[in-house]
Amino acid sequence: MSQKTSSQIRCVTCTAPVNIAVIKYWGKTDEKRILPTNPSLSVTLGQDELRAKTSVAVSSRFTEDRMWLNGIEQSVNSPRVQNVLKEIRRRAHKRKSGENKDDLGLAHHVHIVSENNFPTAAGLASSAAGYACLVYALSKLFEVNGEISDIARQGSGSACRSLYGGYVLWKMASKDDGSDSHAVQVQPESHWPQMRALILVVSDQKKHVGSTEGMQTTVQTSELMETRFKLVERRTEDIIKAINDRDFPTFAKITMQESNQLHAVCLDTYPPIFYMTDTSRLIVRLVHAINDILGKVKVAYTFDAGPNACLYLLEEDVPRVLSLVRHFFPASKDAGNSSFVTGLKFDEIEPSTADTSQINLPISEGAVKYIIHTKVGPGPQVLKDPKESLFTPEGKPK
Ligand code: DP6
Repeated sequence: MSQKTSSQIRCVTCTAPVNIAVIKYWGKTDEKRILPTNPSLSVTLGQDELRAKTSVAVSSRFTEDRMWLNGIEQSVNSPRVQNVLKEIRRRAHKRKSGENKDDLGLAHHVHIVSENNFPTAAGLASSAAGYACLVYALSKLFEVNGEISDIARQGSGSACRSLYGGYVLWKMASKDDGSDSHAVQVQPESHWPQMRALILVVSDQKKHVGSTEGMQTTVQTSELMETRFKLVERRTEDIIKAINDRDFPTFAKITMQESNQLHAVCLDTYPPIFYMTDTSRLIVRLVHAINDILGKVKVAYTFDAGPNACLYLLEEDVPRVLSLVRHFFPASKDAGNSSFVTGLKFDEIEPSTADTSQINLPISEGAVKYIIHTKVGPGPQVLKDPKESLFTPEGKPK
């Protein structure tokens, strides 16, 4: 699996996807082990448009563990990175007990280089893809088999769901030690071939409270969370059924109600947390207006800890919805039009033909920076071509 470079460095390069939850994770029962207050469920997005890529290397020549993210060296001493490294090494040791551990370089230091194919500043779920990719690459480097999403969970909760493609459930712990809180695939990406996502990257990215801190304050202060806990398990069962049955209206309604409830408990947090902006709320209104006009729920929105929208819809509705989104949220005149929509070929982007007269919304030029169109995608991948490695032969970032 791993490649050897000229200077006796063993390395592995992998990619991992972004996932966007439809049943939201918001709250921990255990901050250190990252155990969630409720189950959550996500859709894994295609990697052509959104992915993390990570190379990990081990060598007797390395003098310390080192890590570079998007070209900048970062400390490996954060408790979460340390937890991941320790747990992977522990499992590799356990597996190799009795064998020659030097084969794997377990006694040596690691170098990690990671980058995203999308701007980190876009406020997309980069930590989930990043930790999933790190754990997957390390598991290949040290030949750790079996369930590893519980290790990714200890890097960032939502990362555990990026270890699988398709539709993914992150289970709550039932054992006292939390070890059975990991991700499971509900359906593979091939199950519902028509499913599409449109990510609307909103321009006014405000400085906001990070999800780790935000969910902690919500659990401590929001009384609405009690109501949420009562609802969320049933919602999870209902959305799994909708996915299994390919029942888009039910899938979409639960997705929107879940997003709304996440932002309701954020508002109920003391002091309140605001992730959605005026543009986010206009997107919500547009989606409901589209569904009203069409007389059927054809598109769903969901928002995480930021103002960007992820719209889920079926392939047949992409041209109409995209043209309406582009009508009400046209690109800024200064930005040029060429890269406003990515992930679709030029001739797949239809001109604005949809009837806009029934929708009473202002036109917000430049409020959406760009749009990413993507499908449901697979889990992490190993890149075997040595040219894909992010390392120089000396084990430094290229
Ligand atoms: C709003 O996984 O970033 O995206 O476990 O503290 O690292 P930590 O939090 P994180 O939280 C993601 C929250 C969310 C909802 C979701 O993805 O389910």
